Amino acid sequence: MKIVIINGPNLNLLGVREPEIYGGRRFEDYLACLQHKYNDVATIEYFQSNVEGLIIDELHRTGFDCDGIVLNAGAYTHTSLAIADAIRSITSPVVEVHISNVHKREPIRHHSMISCACAGVIAGFGLDCYRLAIEALLAMKSE
Ligand code: DQA
Repeated sequence: MKIVIINGPNLNLLGVREPEIYGGRRFEDYLACLQHKYNDVATIEYFQSNVEGLIIDELHRTGFDCDGIVLNAGAYTHTSLAIADAIRSITSPVVEVHISNVHKREPIRHHSMISCACAGVIAGFGLDCYRLAIEALLAMKSE
């Protein structure tokens, strides 16, 4: 199986950025643990960009031949019709994740432009959301 994790804007600063909300762990360290954990089951690729169009390009590049995409679109979640359209344009299932519980935060974070295009949404469990999303994709694959 091939799974692609795509992180959007400011998520390159995990571990440094607002640690009281997003935790103190660098994503690269967590990713290495995930890759190790799922070594026998899946290859996990990683892409991060702060640029909306590059996230769309990556969805197009990987979204026709991987088994699933875990997408944290960061703040573009709340604004980007273009990313929602890209998700609808590809064939691989996309799971939307958020490290924080966006529904406990400012009202502007309560609405997602992309949820309606995704297979499901996982939010609020810290970095463990990425593992939960992978589990969801594995479960969907074995259905
Ligand atoms: C986030 C939540 C978004 O509202 C925010 O803009 C982010 C991160 C999260 O993972 O909790 O950048 O997607």
